Amino acid sequence: MKLLNPLFTLPFLCIAAACSRNPSVLQDPAGPHAEITGKLFRYFFAVNGVIFLLVLGFLFFALWRRRERQLVAPLQPDAQGEKRLLTGVVIAVSLTIIVLTSFVILSYAVDKNLIGLDKNPALEIEITGHQWWWEVRYLSKTPSDVFTTANEIHVPLNTKIRLILKSSDVIHSVWFPNLAGKRDIIPGHDQDLFIRVDKEGTWQGRCGEFCGMQHAFMGLTLFAEPKPAFEAWEKAQRLPAEEPQSAEEKHGKEVFTTGACAMCHVIRGTDSTGYSSNAPDLTHLKSRATIGAGAAANTKGDLGGWILDPHGIKPGVHMPTISQEPQDFQALLSYLETLK
Ligand code: CUA
Repeated sequence: MKLLNPLFTLPFLCIAAACSRNPSVLQDPAGPHAEITGKLFRYFFAVNGVIFLLVLGFLFFALWRRRERQLVAPLQPDAQGEKRLLTGVVIAVSLTIIVLTSFVILSYAVDKNLIGLDKNPALEIEITGHQWWWEVRYLSKTPSDVFTTANEIHVPLNTKIRLILKSSDVIHSVWFPNLAGKRDIIPGHDQDLFIRVDKEGTWQGRCGEFCGMQHAFMGLTLFAEPKPAFEAWEKAQRLPAEEPQSAEEKHGKEVFTTGACAMCHVIRGTDSTGYSSNAPDLTHLKSRATIGAGAAANTKGDLGGWILDPHGIKPGVHMPTISQEPQDFQALLSYLETLK
């Protein structure tokens, strides 16, 4: 099987290389779940490939033979021919049984292997799919340690993690091709997905089930870091937002807490009374790489464009366009930039 790896991996890597630094494919596994499933995939692919080529070979051989013999007389019963036919059928049926049985046994072994990996997770993260973003809650036995973020998850390397998957509206599906198989989430029917990331890096996840207009922009990025880096990130995320310093930033905070933003968004540490499940928690907005679940980069310019015209960047998004006085808009933007 090892010999086959480059053969199967190369074409996939070439196709995906244009999309991201870490191609989002099963063939480039970053953890044991994808590694095991990838082996099964390669076995299925190789066996089915051989069968496909054999069938084509026999088909062309039959066509070629038929032309050679120039049959004109109707077929006559022929004892030798019947025997050959019977042998052929027996071989074909036996091969089918062997191949299918091997598929079933290997699938069972892989499932058992995967289930064995899922015991005693060290970290639990609740991920709720919304049209079209991900709410992410890091759970803890200590209630004050629970915190919420959106669209990006950080995880420590070599750690068993249980993702508790929920949906608030329609069917979504969480899919990290390099880590594990897809898991559909039906509203009211929570799901589990276990992962372990052994390779440091950024791994792209997608929504794997068509869920409406912006299904394509429902990205979930995973950052796999060494434990100290993860713990530093986690500690920073638990803190409330820092107080703004300049007069403009302070005005921006007032625009946020007294205006329409606070009706949906939460910034912990302010007296905004939003409901966190309506829209992404913005407490540490600037610690994230993108806005709009991957729709734009998290730069000051893009953030400004997003606030002024979210539908221009992500048509159909549930964030409304809110008209603001230019000085209020600038102050708001300056304040949001402080949310590190
Ligand atoms: Cu959510 Cu597609």
